[in-house]
Amino acid sequence: MITINENYRKLHASYLFSDIAKRVADFQEQNHSGETLIKLGIGDVTLPLPAACIRAFQDGVNEMAQEESFHGYGPENGYLFLRERIAEFDFSEQGVTVSPDEIFISDGAKCDTGNIQEIFSGDVRVAVPDPVYPVYVDTNVMAGRTGSFQDGRYQNLLYLESTEENGFIPLPAPDLKADLIYLCFPNNPTGAVASKDQLKAWVDYARQNKALIIFDAAYEAFIRNPEVPHSIYEIEGAREVAIESRSFSKKAGFTGTRCAYLVIPRECRAFDAAGAEVSVRELWTRRHSTKFNGVSYPVQRAAAGIYTPEGKRQTRELVDYYLENARMIAEGMKSAGYTVYGGENSPYLWIKTPRPSWETFSLILNKAAVVTTPGAGFGLSGENYIRISAFNNRDCVRQAIDRIVSRVSLD
Ligand code: MLT
Repeated sequence: MITINENYRKLHASYLFSDIAKRVADFQEQNHSGETLIKLGIGDVTLPLPAACIRAFQDGVNEMAQEESFHGYGPENGYLFLRERIAEFDFSEQGVTVSPDEIFISDGAKCDTGNIQEIFSGDVRVAVPDPVYPVYVDTNVMAGRTGSFQDGRYQNLLYLESTEENGFIPLPAPDLKADLIYLCFPNNPTGAVASKDQLKAWVDYARQNKALIIFDAAYEAFIRNPEVPHSIYEIEGAREVAIESRSFSKKAGFTGTRCAYLVIPRECRAFDAAGAEVSVRELWTRRHSTKFNGVSYPVQRAAAGIYTPEGKRQTRELVDYYLENARMIAEGMKSAGYTVYGGENSPYLWIKTPRPSWETFSLILNKAAVVTTPGAGFGLSGENYIRISAFNNRDCVRQAIDRIVSRVSLD
């Protein structure tokens, strides 16, 4: 008899963004006003790939058309030409040491941050911020590291409260007993950024407690404040205790093209059942080469285009465009009396609402035909917030804010 992984039954609902997509589809079926729906929900980019990426992409495709330049299976960890550029421009130039053989190219940060947990024991104690990107939670539920879902939270999962009081930056409490800790900065969903001292508190915790940090830096390109660290490896000792995830999705418009990477330094260690150190990089190499066959050659060429002089300029302009959207959303919502967080070094705005967040989501959808994301979808502490994404074109953003401000009363 073929039996199922019962852990899947613990998952309390469908994946957040699928749930929202379904509600939006229902709304559209019943919406006879003819008004265009504006999506500021899921963080999906709308601007085209930078010209430098398109040119490199096309060159890559052309090479595939000729026998002498055709590429079959590539290295599972990614082509060296891309890993070398990442090591140089994303790290060395910023004063951080990462070598190309510590970089694993993949098809997305969602897959990386979702898959990485499988190289750790089934009984490690997992800590996640609340609110949190649901992938970290759901993949650990699927792997059986949690109990059932009760009163809005999974049993046996350690929730790190991210609230207005702590500026949405949880720090390790003295009694915390976590082995695997997920951190994301700039944060999805709150838009908060962590200082060096705050990251240091986590790195010190992980070193003292033989724990490991998964640091999701998917939104790193949105940091404009020079004081804010871009990489966890800016913190002394982090190479031993942290894995960093980066993505080209939001930085260069690759949500539909798919390319990202994980950094696992040589020193990064976990422990076997006898307490002996094991190289995390070697474990992941084994896993990656068994289950993954690499990102397509033209896509890696396109990603390498980001690191050309014009690619760097174009990606910065792209990110600046969304940051300006974020600024406009913050200004509009603040002028209407809302309390707004995030949006300065992040494409996400975290907006406090007097009503339950799913109710606010529905109100904005029905009255303004604008899709947002209910904070409760990211966890119990997200209740009474909605997340607004800055990823859309300028006119849509302007219209969306006008509609919300003029039509929706949240009292
Ligand atoms: C989000 O909206 O939180 C992200 O777009 C989801 C993702 O990157 O998978």
